[in-house]
Amino acid sequence: MIVSPSLLAADSGKYSEEIKEVEKAGLKYLHIDVMDGHFVPNLSFGPNILEGIRSKSKMIFDTHLMIANPSDFVEAFIKAGADIITIHIETSDDIYNLYNICKGNKKGFGLAVSPDTPLENLNRYLKIIDILLIMGIQPGFGGQEFIPKVLERIKEMAVIKKTSNFNYLISVDGGVSEENATDIALAGADILVAGSAIFGKADRSEAVKSLLSGNVIK
Ligand code: DX5
Ligand code: ZN
Repeated sequence: MIVSPSLLAADSGKYSEEIKEVEKAGLKYLHIDVMDGHFVPNLSFGPNILEGIRSKSKMIFDTHLMIANPSDFVEAFIKAGADIITIHIETSDDIYNLYNICKGNKKGFGLAVSPDTPLENLNRYLKIIDILLIMGIQPGFGGQEFIPKVLERIKEMAVIKKTSNFNYLISVDGGVSEENATDIALAGADILVAGSAIFGKADRSEAVKSLLSGNVIK
């Protein structure tokens, strides 16, 4: 199981120290939520912030773009140091082109899907993506409750992955907690994105242990 801590829940006055804490906890991925105030009603990080933390960390920058026009920014985020770029299926009709840009730069490419978007919309891209990010909440804010119906969506995409032999990793983002991590893992998640469940706790190593304390390690 991969755990990708979401920087959105970290102390914004000391990102470098916060990143060191999760590196010390043994984590390899760092989830970076990019918001534009249009696709979601909130603002967060731009490429300049990635560039700043890039020089301080070797973690895999798992960059989640919640922006209305990803085509305008994908290259800037790659240049700033993103390792994986995930865009929302709801935002772009230029997905193959964005995929090609990422692959041309040897970066991972993912698609994210919000809770009310039909999963069928993903069908034609499933064979090319590295990450399928299934939102457990409506995107825009950390600290929300996981929407229970999403468990079925994870299961459905895990079955499709298995039966069709696809390679995508299933990442689950939003509302992941110590209480539901095992169910989410058993449903088929490969990556647990966790903001408040990690940065909301004083001891980040303990928080990661508690998150994985069920039988979630595959
Ligand atoms: C929400 C973001 C999530 C968020 C998760 O739009 O995509 O990554 O930070 O936060 P928690 O784990 O607190 O729900
Ligand atoms: Zn996210």
